[in-house]
Amino acid sequence: MSSPDAPIVVLDSGLGGLTVVRALRATLPYDDILYFGDTARVPYGSKTAATVTSFVRQIIAYFREFSPKHIVIACNTATALSLATVRGEFPDLSISGVIEPGARAAVAAAGSKVAPVIGIIATEATIRSRAYERAIHRRRTLARMLLRPTPLLVPIIEEGRNPDDPLVKLALHQYLSPLLQRAIDVLVLGCTHYPILKSAIEAMVGHEVSVIDSADRCAEDVARRLMSAGLLRAGSSDQRASGSLRCFVTDDSPRFATLAGRFLGMEIEPATWVSTEELHAGERALPLRRAI
Ligand code: DGL
Repeated sequence: MSSPDAPIVVLDSGLGGLTVVRALRATLPYDDILYFGDTARVPYGSKTAATVTSFVRQIIAYFREFSPKHIVIACNTATALSLATVRGEFPDLSISGVIEPGARAAVAAAGSKVAPVIGIIATEATIRSRAYERAIHRRRTLARMLLRPTPLLVPIIEEGRNPDDPLVKLALHQYLSPLLQRAIDVLVLGCTHYPILKSAIEAMVGHEVSVIDSADRCAEDVARRLMSAGLLRAGSSDQRASGSLRCFVTDDSPRFATLAGRFLGMEIEPATWVSTEELHAGERALPLRRAI
């Protein structure tokens, strides 16, 4: 039985899930957040489902000891490839992802159009999984989708490039031009890293295209889930003004702290390093071994 004071775990391959952390801190300011960036193994988007599922299983097994009230897979790739599997493997934990909230928001942004044209940019693995197509078609059968893998964006963002960097603009131009030629109504940022470049993306697509930020939608979804489970943490005068944030990484590069602090607009405590050996050992100790 969980409690409102238990932490929320947010996990991603690197910096991208911080976009969800930022949105969560705005939506649920009193909650404690444990953030995991798998910085030694980023990017996930070029890896197979078996590999990514093994990583996600290891991270969840590691955080089970913290008795979290909710775990957010703040990574579209990991959501697409692993969410259903790990939900089955950890039935005692509440786990959600980013694709359903993103798809819901895309359809809402299309308004009353029966056959809207929806562009989706994401990692190669997310596009290949067809998870967004399925989630959108369930809600709007006649929606037409233009899917574009954008594999350079995660490394560019992990390198700390700003939205106004010429290299960022060049990559976005290359990736977005074919979508813009087809007059999309909505553009889904199908990777939690991409909202870091949202200002550049919005400037490029113009205001007729609704840009869907999967991070914001995911935070709203988590708040809804906690509220219906009676697990929202309320603020009170004898409590801290805001919840805490503790970060964990698999490669403790100084870049993570700098970029994370810059992105969140706050000083963050040095991250706790978790070795991949420790994660592997945790996976091996799980009672139910499954074929991967
Ligand atoms: N933030 C992850 C996502 O949403 C990035 C995946 C990667 O590491 O390639 O897909």
